[in-house]
Amino acid sequence: MRRIMIVSLLCALAATMSAQEKDKSLFFDATQGKRSSLTYVDGTEVAFTAYERLFYVTNVEDSTYQYLNIYVPDGVTQQTPIFLRTYVGGYMASQAAQPQVGDATGRALKEGYVVVIPGTRGRNSTITVDKTYAKAHKGVKKGQTVYTGRAPKAILDLKAAIRYLRHFDKQMPGDAERIITDGTSAGGAMSSLMGATGNNPAYEPLLQAMGAAQDRDDVYASVCFCPITDLDHADMAYEWLYNGTDSRQKGNQDVLAVSNELKAQFPAYINSLGLKKPDGTLLTADNYLDFIKREIIRAAQIAKNAGADIPDSIGFTFSSSAMGMFAAPINGGVHPQGGMRPMRGSRQVGEYIIDLNMQKYLNYVVTTQPLKTAPAFDTKEVCGQKPSGENEEFGDATGTSVNFTEYAAQKTGSVLTDDIRLNARLLNPMNFIGDKETDVASHWYIRHGARDRDTAFPIPLNLALKLQNTGKDVNYLLAWNRPHSGDYALDELFQWIRDITQ
Ligand code: DHB
Repeated sequence: MRRIMIVSLLCALAATMSAQEKDKSLFFDATQGKRSSLTYVDGTEVAFTAYERLFYVTNVEDSTYQYLNIYVPDGVTQQTPIFLRTYVGGYMASQAAQPQVGDATGRALKEGYVVVIPGTRGRNSTITVDKTYAKAHKGVKKGQTVYTGRAPKAILDLKAAIRYLRHFDKQMPGDAERIITDGTSAGGAMSSLMGATGNNPAYEPLLQAMGAAQDRDDVYASVCFCPITDLDHADMAYEWLYNGTDSRQKGNQDVLAVSNELKAQFPAYINSLGLKKPDGTLLTADNYLDFIKREIIRAAQIAKNAGADIPDSIGFTFSSSAMGMFAAPINGGVHPQGGMRPMRGSRQVGEYIIDLNMQKYLNYVVTTQPLKTAPAFDTKEVCGQKPSGENEEFGDATGTSVNFTEYAAQKTGSVLTDDIRLNARLLNPMNFIGDKETDVASHWYIRHGARDRDTAFPIPLNLALKLQNTGKDVNYLLAWNRPHSGDYALDELFQWIRDITQ
């Protein structure tokens, strides 16, 4: 009797494993979806078929993360675009999730797109080594804790997920040639990497070792909200922008000394990029602050036109006449004082923003959220500071944290090994844009909040301009008044998606 119970328990356990976990080949069966629905705040209900826990590699190292979920709303065809959202944040592991009514995944489903949400390993994911793993990995002992997701594992997982979608494109609803990636912050960085590194051979041996499908991994379009990327140069960009703020100048003197040194490194970097502004003129260290100023003014003017109140107390100057003698009030309607006279008591008389005091504006930005320390990213042991999440991201499977920039390595006397250099290279989309061996996405939507201080404005702007300079279609904006956040202004985003897919 006892033996029968044990046997039936084992059978039940085996049944919970997917066919793929058992036979080590990639698996998808269109007949095995589960019906479900989402109800939205406006009362609409969207019915869909869910395919969940689909492992995208055959050598699954971390079964908590290395699978994806697919959601197919009714009415989808083989031509329907696929919206792939990564929930990576803080370079940490993220599990495959279900679509949410309050973010871009729910909206994508409602718009009739196939929604894919892959899980990925990250800097904090670990496994406890078992006998089989120990046998396959030299120097690793049974019972030991191993970090599974240090750089560049998350982007490898995402590339494997894309290859999986291509591998089963014929059997699966939706069009794997029209994948649109989306992510925020470290997830925005991942989205930019999916868009910028398609089919580059540097990732190939790593993907093969994981048992990823032998298929292409380029995508059609990438949506990147506040991408925390170009980590190799993010520290110098940060200090170049924020060095003059009261916060740095009146703060800790050691931090200011570091800030001064990093700030001094940025001009050589930006000048080496040879980027052109949209008007075709060269972007240099000398005109970069003016370029940012114009971008902030552009964003604020868009918001003002839509009805936002832009305070002049944070550095803006407005045209003096537009609300006065000749123009109608900002959002139409009748002038409260009878039409043609300026509103008495209104400090902000003009309709057009004509200037911005950047020093005042940057001081305002850092009142909304305190600056990071200097360095902002590669902190480990610089002036005795603790390691950052990024220091962990470049650490190894034993859980180390390491310096990854020349500057910090020099400061701390640590060595940038070939492995660290390679990992940093594979995690930076700037290295692959314009490269002949890479298929970069054709369409890009890049947003960074106009008061987001998690990374400095040049990081998303350099990304946008490098893409634009190499002929890509780029819609970018330092979105007015947005802090470090993503998946906002979804009406606008989904209009853009319609425009690029119709
Ligand atoms: C994220 C934010 C950061 O400031 C950072 O350094 C890395 C990641 C994030 O929100 O994902």
